[in-house]
Amino acid sequence: MKLLVTGGAGFIGSNFIHYWLRTHPEDTIINIDKLTYAGNIENLASIQDDPRYTFVKADICDKNAVEKVVKQVDLIVHFAAESHVDRSILDPEVFVKSNVMGTYTLLESARKNGNIRFHHISTDEVFGALKLNTRAKFSEVTPYDPHSPYSASKAGSDHLVRAYFDTFGLPVTITNCSNNFGPYHFPEKMIPLAITNIIEGLQVPIYGDGLYVRDWLYVEDHCRAVDMVIGKGTIGQTYCIGGMSKDVSNKEVVQLICELMGVDFEASAKYIKDRPGHDRRYAIDWSKIKKELGWEPQHDFKTALSHTIQWYRDNESWWKRIKSGEYRAYYQKQYQAKS
Ligand code: NAD
Ligand code: TYD
Repeated sequence: MKLLVTGGAGFIGSNFIHYWLRTHPEDTIINIDKLTYAGNIENLASIQDDPRYTFVKADICDKNAVEKVVKQVDLIVHFAAESHVDRSILDPEVFVKSNVMGTYTLLESARKNGNIRFHHISTDEVFGALKLNTRAKFSEVTPYDPHSPYSASKAGSDHLVRAYFDTFGLPVTITNCSNNFGPYHFPEKMIPLAITNIIEGLQVPIYGDGLYVRDWLYVEDHCRAVDMVIGKGTIGQTYCIGGMSKDVSNKEVVQLICELMGVDFEASAKYIKDRPGHDRRYAIDWSKIKKELGWEPQHDFKTALSHTIQWYRDNESWWKRIKSGEYRAYYQKQYQAKS
């Protein structure tokens, strides 16, 4: 099979390409990526000369560039997006462009070139927020209620994907996953930010009271879930993917990272001004994908977090290069005023 992966130079996309070439050695992949600040071609350095892999630097909003690659493939796996909530608060426009218009451009091209199979990667953030200390969870039937420009733009893209199924019969599937973590995670997100700050001897910023809850999913488990949905999922359907069975607050996540890295939490953490519109709690009911496709997470949170910490210890040059570039200006803008 010939795949088009969008956003394959980002965190999850690059993990997915490595995963796919390992588990489907007969397939070929074209990776289309604009290489925004979050795209890093180094993530794919080990396969750059692999004859099964081709890289195309282009924007998914560029109709002609998209058309050229779409014509060559049997399946599109769509990861490309602006993905960071905090940046969507600082500058929403590019989120609407890449996440909504970019998805539209891909869908339109898939439709015009023989209704190419399309798998769309989305997020649990489209469902809004759950209350703390309840048993409520997001599932495939939860109504959409996005709060940030990021989640609103992802919700828009999900609606378009469903519309292309309902209106044009485009063979689509959607997955809404929770917060991923693991290797190649850009250090603006909470877990890699905490790990790399601790290695550098810096404090870990915790927003608000730190009692916010996220459902953490190891990226390898996510890649396997997407693989199963592509292979066995029902066309037109959505599958929710999560990694946890009990709530863990951001404070507890940072405490665990401190424990695993052998530093004192009180000295290492710093509570700062909260994010506006901060969603209190995410939790995923992943029983549909378990029941229909037999998927469940294979990595427990603490062990996967230890592997992730080890990866950042072993790959300092990877994240140090990132942290010394554009990231530095972003970090100052995002954190200095809030301390
Ligand atoms: P990321 O920010 O690490 O990577 C995104 C990639 O997309 C980058 O390589 C970037 O260069 C590329 N890109 C952005 N705009 C583009 C454009 N207009 N044209 C071409 N390429 C473009 O993101 P990620 O964390 O790997 O997330 C991948 C997908 O998974 C996104 O759709 C995101 O919404 C979704 N998701 C992520 C998480 C998470 O925890 N990271 C959770 C749920 C859903
Ligand atoms: P993040 O990794 O940005 O993912 P998302 O906002 O998409 O869930 O944030 C995860 C949680 O951690 C979220 O509740 C915000 C919080 N957070 C902090 O407390 N400090 C930080 O420096 C960052 C980046 C996030």
